[in-house]
Amino acid sequence: MRRPVRIAVTGAAGAISYNLLFKIAAGEMMGKDQPVILQLIEIPDAMNALRGVAMELEDCAYPLLHTITLHDNVEEGFSNCHYALLVGARPRGPGMERRDLMEVNAEIFSRQGKALNDFANRDVKVLVTGNPANTNALIASRNAPDLSPSQFTCLTRLDHNRAKGMLASQCGVTARDIKNIVIWGNHSPTQYPDLHHATVFGQPAMGQIDTSWYRDEFIPRVQQRGSEIINARGLSSAASAAQAIVDQMNNWCLGTEPGEIVSMGILSDGSYGIQKGIFFSFPVRCNYGRYQIVQGLDVGEFSRQKLTATELELLEEKGVVESLLPEETEESHTNLSICLKSGVTLYADGTGPSQESKFMSNNRVL
Ligand SMILES: NC(=O)c1ccc[n+]([C@@H]2O[C@H](COP(=O)([O-])OP(=O)(O)OC[C@H]3O[C@@H](n4cnc5c(N)ncnc54)[C@H](O)[C@@H]3O)[C@@H](O)[C@H]2O)c1
Repeated sequence: MRRPVRIAVTGAAGAISYNLLFKIAAGEMMGKDQPVILQLIEIPDAMNALRGVAMELEDCAYPLLHTITLHDNVEEGFSNCHYALLVGARPRGPGMERRDLMEVNAEIFSRQGKALNDFANRDVKVLVTGNPANTNALIASRNAPDLSPSQFTCLTRLDHNRAKGMLASQCGVTARDIKNIVIWGNHSPTQYPDLHHATVFGQPAMGQIDTSWYRDEFIPRVQQRGSEIINARGLSSAASAAQAIVDQMNNWCLGTEPGEIVSMGILSDGSYGIQKGIFFSFPVRCNYGRYQIVQGLDVGEFSRQKLTATELELLEEKGVVESLLPEETEESHTNLSICLKSGVTLYADGTGPSQESKFMSNNRVL
């Protein structure tokens, strides 16, 4: 049996976590041979509810669940974690504008970035789900000067999966028969679900659907799917968000299928002409615990307009939180180079590569 890995989850008593934690404990995220330690984090008022969740986890008697610890602060909760799932966030309250929501969440995520920097495993992989996910990921990453920006991602896999599911129903196939959908940009209604590279049974998807259905129904429906679910269910998507977190982390850590493209919100390195320094959803492939942007996909005029719209929204969001982005991390976020850290697991007892190992250095190419 392998040694257990530490997975920290914020918002652990919330709706997404109630679907997520049981999947992780069952081995769906890190593999059926990987024991896990869950470090569950909540705000002080939700600690009692969190205890209830922990009891239920215990009652499932999962063979892979090594330990559960409960924390009412991130500094303790992130201690030595190998993976950090930042799910918790303040929801939009009555009369709150999008800008107000961004400002309160910005403070939460800057504290979390600092705590990851100071207390997490040096090889930590971070996935931000709490909204606005892309900009929260940017704030967390910019506040973690000793970690590499490539250790941070945000969740756009839910949009990817939604697009896959909808295309599958339209074509009368299952999601397994569909490959290479791309979600570009922000996890917001400006995102661009792109089917120009997608295939259904290995054949181009665009040849099997109407362009008008694609442009006038499919794109707006994927973009608005979150609201459609709230209107129908009276609650926001939770089970599908949890599945998307599992899928994104599983691909990032254990790799994508050969040749398959998935979508991940990552720091832009300028690929496809997208401005550097924002978290943008790109087509990626993963291997050995690292992701790589798929280059060379054709971007036609229609797609370019959509990419620009979502890029502009992200630049505007960045402007709102600028005061929480320390200057010292500006350069590392605009001059990216390959990070060698990912894929290395360190343990609190000091086993694993030493800090001096070449595999632990940032901003170097071997
Ligand atoms: N990126 C995506 O695809 C996607 C999809 C769905 C939902 N979301 C977002 O995920 C977030 C969580 O959704 P949910 O349905 O679980 O919400 P929820 O309100 O049910 O749960 C959120 C939990 O986070 C906790 N929390 C708040 N601030 C915290 C902090 N500073 N530290 C630790 N915990 C904190 C709350 O106490 C609450 O228990 C929301 O921001 C939602 O908008 C993102």
